[in-house]
Amino acid sequence: MATNRTFTMIKPDAVENGHIGGILNMITEGGFKIVSLKLTQLTVADAQKFYAVHSERPFYGELVAFMSRGPIVAAILEKDNAVEDFRTLIGATNPADAAEGTIRKKYAKSIGENAVHGSDSDENAAIEGAFHFAGREQF
Ligand code: CMP
Repeated sequence: MATNRTFTMIKPDAVENGHIGGILNMITEGGFKIVSLKLTQLTVADAQKFYAVHSERPFYGELVAFMSRGPIVAAILEKDNAVEDFRTLIGATNPADAAEGTIRKKYAKSIGENAVHGSDSDENAAIEGAFHFAGREQF
C-alpha cells in the first residue's frame, strides 16, 4: 500500500542560484504539506552513502562532488500518493525532457545538476527521510 510521504532535496545548484523560495512555493502550491525541513550540507561520505545505489555508474564521482559542494534543503513532504505525484511535479531527470510546469523545467540546467531530488519509492522515501531527520523532527 502506498504511504503518503516522500523525501526531497533542493540541490546545491538551486540553492546557489537563489531558488529555495521558488521551489518551496511550487511544492506547497502543488498540494504538498512540509512535515520536516532543514538547510544542511552533505559531507562527501554522506553523499557517497546516500547515492550508494549509483556507485557503479560513470557519473557517481561527479554526483558525489556536486551534492556535497554546498548547502541543500532537505524536506519530508506529505500528500496522498506522495511519491508518484512528487515525481510528476519535479519532471524528468534530464530537464531537456521535463514537461512544462515542472520544477526541473523551470529551475534545472542539466541532467547532473537538476535542482531537486524526489524519492523513487515508498521504501526509499522512508530510508531517505530517516537519513536526514530524527523522529522528533518529523511532524
Ligand atoms: P536524482 O534522480 O535525484 O538522483 C540520481 C542523480 O544522478 C540524478 O538525480 C542526477 O542528478 C544524477 N544523474 C543521473 N543521470 C546522470 C548522468 N547521465 N550524468 C550525470 N548525472 C546524472
